[in-house]
Amino acid sequence: MAQYSNPFLAVINHESVCRPPVWMMRQAGRVLPRYRNLTKTHPFRTIMADAKLAAEVTLMPIDDMGMDAAILFSDILVIPEALGVKVEWTSEGPAFPQPLLTAEHPAAQLSFNPDHLTHVANTLDEIANQKTGDTPVIGFCGGPLTCLCYMLAGRDKSMQFTEVVRYLYTHREEALQLLEAITSASEHYVQLQAAHGIAAFQIFESFGGVISAELYAEMVLPFVRRITAAARQHGLPVIFFPKGFGTGIQMLSLQDCDYVSIDWQTPLVTARQLVDPALGLQGNMEPRLLFAPQAVIAQHLERYWQFFKENPNWIFNLGHGLHKDTPLENVRFVTEWFKQKQK
Ligand code: CP3
Repeated sequence: MAQYSNPFLAVINHESVCRPPVWMMRQAGRVLPRYRNLTKTHPFRTIMADAKLAAEVTLMPIDDMGMDAAILFSDILVIPEALGVKVEWTSEGPAFPQPLLTAEHPAAQLSFNPDHLTHVANTLDEIANQKTGDTPVIGFCGGPLTCLCYMLAGRDKSMQFTEVVRYLYTHREEALQLLEAITSASEHYVQLQAAHGIAAFQIFESFGGVISAELYAEMVLPFVRRITAAARQHGLPVIFFPKGFGTGIQMLSLQDCDYVSIDWQTPLVTARQLVDPALGLQGNMEPRLLFAPQAVIAQHLERYWQFFKENPNWIFNLGHGLHKDTPLENVRFVTEWFKQKQK
């Protein structure tokens, strides 16, 4: 007997589904008119820190876009901030007035203050009050390397993080200490989110591709495993999004995660051949395809449908975050297209 009527909960609990679950990275902000109105009067940090507002924004994509899962409205940079790195959320994106590369002993600058994360627990409680039915909430953190990149160098418009990669090779022990600090804060963070009702946990390793897969496997993956183990202690499945890994996705195993979220550069069928069959997949529609005419989008959805028929352990998503001026009607077209298939 099917236990879960929500397809996201069904798939992550290994039940068969008649259509794939659908959610999209960065679905909570960016595109939604209700969210964009709110940002005219409230800056991002205010929304994130206010449990009522953050809960409302978290749930908007369920009602306004027809998504099957909500993702907590917060940011990956709350962990660097809780470790003592100054972060400013400006209208241009995050800014770092004192990136750690300017310090002589970066690791000595850090001290973890869990009080900085209390607002996330309050938001999750408020979501539980506001939500109806069995809508699952996905919790998340940044991947250890992505957090390290921002902490050491701040934002890098080139996205190469050359200074950070150089640092990994020249200051290996110091870099490992920083990764250790990020990881133990993230272990605490996953435990906190689990205690406040999330159904799954995603690790956003958005800058996974700035180093070689070999260096990642050797230096960073052991830390990812620790975050995953912490999530599993609380019964949570883990989705890992290693953006830019390329063929490096073949090194992942059940020790690392339960699902691999595939970026838009890697064909999904190729990803399925490369990734350990014990792991489910998520992804990977090119976010800019959502600007195309709906007839073109439908052709791609048909291709994804064929994929689903052969690979049911799959969650529909994008291969990176939604773009801010994506037409809302095209997002809805996708969620409705899959719901039609169910009938
Ligand atoms: O896009 C990714 O690669 C996903 C991982 C990631 C998040 N935040 C997750 C997130 C990254 C790399 C960030 C850093 C960050 N923080 C950025 C982009 C990168 C950069 O260097 O410019 C930005 C713009 C922020 C600040 C921020 N975070 C804003 C303004 C918002 C609100 C809506 C939006 O996206 O414009 C967020 C929300 C956010 N960041 C969520 C997640 C999972 C919440 C859920 C959601 O929006 O769906």
